[in-house]
Amino acid sequence: MIRVNPELTDEQLLRLFDKGTLGQWTPDAIDWGDMERISPEQRHAIAQILTPVYLGEQTAMFGVSAVLPDMLGHGHHEEALYLSSMGLDEARHFRNLHKLYRIFQEEPASRHRIPEMFRYHARLLSHKDSTEWIWGILISDLFAKHFYGGLYSRFPDTLVGRLARRTLRDEARHQAFSERYLEKRLPTMDEDKKGQLFILRDDLFRIMEAIGERLKDPMLTLAWEPSTFLEELFEDTERWVNRLYIAQPS
Ligand SMILES: [Fe+2]
Ligand SMILES: [Fe+2]
Repeated sequence: MIRVNPELTDEQLLRLFDKGTLGQWTPDAIDWGDMERISPEQRHAIAQILTPVYLGEQTAMFGVSAVLPDMLGHGHHEEALYLSSMGLDEARHFRNLHKLYRIFQEEPASRHRIPEMFRYHARLLSHKDSTEWIWGILISDLFAKHFYGGLYSRFPDTLVGRLARRTLRDEARHQAFSERYLEKRLPTMDEDKKGQLFILRDDLFRIMEAIGERLKDPMLTLAWEPSTFLEELFEDTERWVNRLYIAQPS
């Protein structure tokens, strides 16, 4: 249902889109210069644990482009505008991590080492309904919040800390979008569809636990306990489950 001149009435989403437009930045915004403040052992560990996130930035681009036609097709023009800016954010995150690997002279972990990271993204992209993807991307954005937040607190005055802090601002906007979108759509969904969201959350967490197990050693190198990380993330998603009245299917 593409219209030449649709109404744009959701001021909250329009403001978020404008914020997204104004919030664009390039790698020049970061001082990449002080790599030696992070030990070679830490750099190697960071390269390993960043791997699923690096893949996630790319699959987020893929997901945005997959749900955009659905949004436009249903006349959700404000959502489509916002998602267009989010696609550019994810592209920038991907490009920045690509640059970080080159500066570190490190490689991401091999796909054989963490096969579950592909399962995570396959599950995220297996949605029948765009709302499912947006719920999944909210969980992934909460993951990004805890992950980049943890990197920032460990390496505040370094290129990694600066990159993490700047990226966090983009991820906070993505969260605000998911919140607005879900608050609008969830009341229109039947219990069965909402139950699918509960199942998706559990599936994603099961996969994240397996990834955490694979990355335990490099995480411990950075004094980061995977189970603590996942517990905090789970609590964060639980607040959303309650807030949006998502119930476990009976
Ligand atoms: Fe991202
Ligand atoms: Fe994001």
